[in-house]
Amino acid sequence: MNAPTPGTTPAPAVPAAVRDRVHALDPDQLPAYVYDRTALRAHAAAVRAALPPPVELYYAAKANPEPEILAALGPYVDGYEVSSGGELAHVAAAVPGRPLAFGGPGKTPAEIAAGLRLGVRRWHVESPHELRLLADLAARPDAVGSTEDGADGADDRTAPRAEVLLRVNLPQADDALTGSALAMGGRPSPFGLDPEQAAAVVRLLTDGTLPHLRLRGVHAHLASGLDAPRLLAVAASVTEWAAGLAERHGVPLDEVVVGGGMAVDYAAPDTRFDWAAYGAGLARLARAHPGVTLRVEPGRALTAYCGWYATEVLDVKRSHGEEFAVVRGGTHHLRTPATKGHDQPCAVLRSPRPWPHPWERPTARGELVTVAGQLCTPKDVLARRVPAAGLRAGDRIAFALAGAYAWNISHHDFLMHPRPGFHFLP
Ligand SMILES: Cc1ncc(COP(=O)(O)O)c(C=O)c1O
Repeated sequence: MNAPTPGTTPAPAVPAAVRDRVHALDPDQLPAYVYDRTALRAHAAAVRAALPPPVELYYAAKANPEPEILAALGPYVDGYEVSSGGELAHVAAAVPGRPLAFGGPGKTPAEIAAGLRLGVRRWHVESPHELRLLADLAARPDAVGSTEDGADGADDRTAPRAEVLLRVNLPQADDALTGSALAMGGRPSPFGLDPEQAAAVVRLLTDGTLPHLRLRGVHAHLASGLDAPRLLAVAASVTEWAAGLAERHGVPLDEVVVGGGMAVDYAAPDTRFDWAAYGAGLARLARAHPGVTLRVEPGRALTAYCGWYATEVLDVKRSHGEEFAVVRGGTHHLRTPATKGHDQPCAVLRSPRPWPHPWERPTARGELVTVAGQLCTPKDVLARRVPAAGLRAGDRIAFALAGAYAWNISHHDFLMHPRPGFHFLP
């Protein structure tokens, strides 16, 4: 996604329930994260409805692992993708009994052992060494987790105890990942296996060498931030490649995970990824590969929209011809604009509260105001040149699209400001 021209990002529509909650909070209760679970459920239901039934939907918990968010998504997802031992333990406790897929490079022996104990449903294996480590731990008598597919080590010690998908870093056509905010594959990277390693690994998994592992298919997550046509092209190329691999080795191909990475357009906060087109494309792909379960694992595009970071304007000032609003909080709570280099879309909520001081209220004189946080760094900017004529100290600002890779990726402890409040609207 390209960074928008400052001053051109439209203000998002703030739902009434979010607006009311923000206005109800006292200044010292700000900043606050407000999550609109009604909106989340409606969005997740629409995503689910757009995906044809054979396509499974897992939520990549790294985007926002708040237990209330994980639970709200429960009815709409088939499972959750976790990428660390910490996420594994957290998600298993937050949504007990739900299927988990364990991905991520550099899994430690302790994390793998925990995953086996917790009965991880699918393992996304990232390297030959990791495969060996998993096999070694799965072969131990105390690896007694169970999965719903019968890989039940407690009852049958000879049965496979880990269902494996090989994460493969597949090359893509030169322009396939163009526009991606975060390309993770198709180029040198620490993620997954190189395609030429796959043959040897498939042999290991199918010649009886690693009896406690069962090969289920292939996993790829090559980029984040792609639109539906590009993501469909990636999905097709991954699935074709996986089918070819299976055919060459004479093994069944049960599943292909085509990743997450559905774009969220921070410059157009009221638009959405084209799930209908994506779902229709996946339906075509599924028809071309009967017997293969396709799975998607979005994070950002599921939860970004339900989250709001709301705060209060502390001061308004002019500096060398430009106007700034300094707000409570900043990028140590909402790092997304700093990491992605964009302006976080925001709406001004004019405060009805009277100005409590005898002196003049700081007020913007121009049309455009840059919104900065409280950190002692020029990088602490949430949005540049926001149309906010008349913005006053004491007004409130609600930042949209703060439900994914927001609080949980931020450097909270820098400068030791208080943490925001968290509000989960019904
Ligand atoms: C393996 C894997 N799957 C899914 C995701 C989710 O990506 P996104 O939030 O862009 O949908 C990520 C994000 O980094 C990932 O690494």
